[in-house]
Amino acid sequence: MDRVLVTRTPPGRALDMLQASAALDVWAEERQMPRGELLQRVAPVDGLYCMLTDRIDEELLDAAPRLRVVSTMAVGIDNIDLAACTQRGVIVGHTPDVLTETTADTAFTLMAAAARRVGEGIAYVEEGRWKRWEPDLLLGSDIHGTTLGIIGLGRIGRAVAKRARGFDMQILYHNRSRDTSAEDELGAEYRSFADLLQEADHVIVLVPLSDETHHLIDAAALAMMKPTATLTNAARGPIVNPVALADALRSGTIAAAALDVTDPEPIPADDQLLDLPNCIVIPHLGSASVATRAAMAELAAENLIAGLRGEPLPARAGPG
Ligand code: DGY
Repeated sequence: MDRVLVTRTPPGRALDMLQASAALDVWAEERQMPRGELLQRVAPVDGLYCMLTDRIDEELLDAAPRLRVVSTMAVGIDNIDLAACTQRGVIVGHTPDVLTETTADTAFTLMAAAARRVGEGIAYVEEGRWKRWEPDLLLGSDIHGTTLGIIGLGRIGRAVAKRARGFDMQILYHNRSRDTSAEDELGAEYRSFADLLQEADHVIVLVPLSDETHHLIDAAALAMMKPTATLTNAARGPIVNPVALADALRSGTIAAAALDVTDPEPIPADDQLLDLPNCIVIPHLGSASVATRAAMAELAAENLIAGLRGEPLPARAGPG
């Protein structure tokens, strides 16, 4: 029987599914498996069921000579050295599609919360400062009828654009290349990176993290945005330079930000971004609905089982 290491207990039926086809070693603690433990326990396994917090690199592959399949319970694979896996014949599975709508819900919610100053409103009430209705209390910017700029119009970006249509928003997008089908289906308009930043009232970042997108949103990019604009990052933390963002929020270069992801992650409790009233931070909850996390866990299990059987993966990352 194949041996599989599971680096965190997944939700839903995933463990039962895996148990029926492999001998499992499950890290059942409610914390990330320490690196040393991971490198040791991966040695005898044929399959690895991992999380986005586990780094799958040359060092890990060296430590796992029998490894044939890596299945991550995430769509993003920036934690996995895909080229190294491919070179060694290790197949990689991930979880696209099942989390698209939920992650779009989160991204849109964050954008709306930043625009309407929901974080500041909650703090205002909780701190006992709410004494009366005020005609000019915590005025934010509108969502309906404004211009949304989506950086990275992939599956999740398109789902965000669908929501934006319901709010009568003009939809701008920037991708490496134009997506004419999205333009036809969603009425999205292509813009250069600079034009999108200059024109949008609300910018949502949804590109995958890569060397190319690391600190894509830096001081220069923020300076191009409107002083009334909001920035939402629902992709990966390092796409936004956190120091530049804090400066921009403090100086009024932009109005507000909402982050589902941070750099580093988790964000330290004393990080300057957490002291800024116009910055909302939530702990990487993009796909965090009960149904979606179960679907991701189960798809990751299906990927692993198929890979071990030598069958095509339902959702393979990279070539194949
Ligand atoms: C992913 O799957 O990559 C998401 O970030 C999880 O929420």
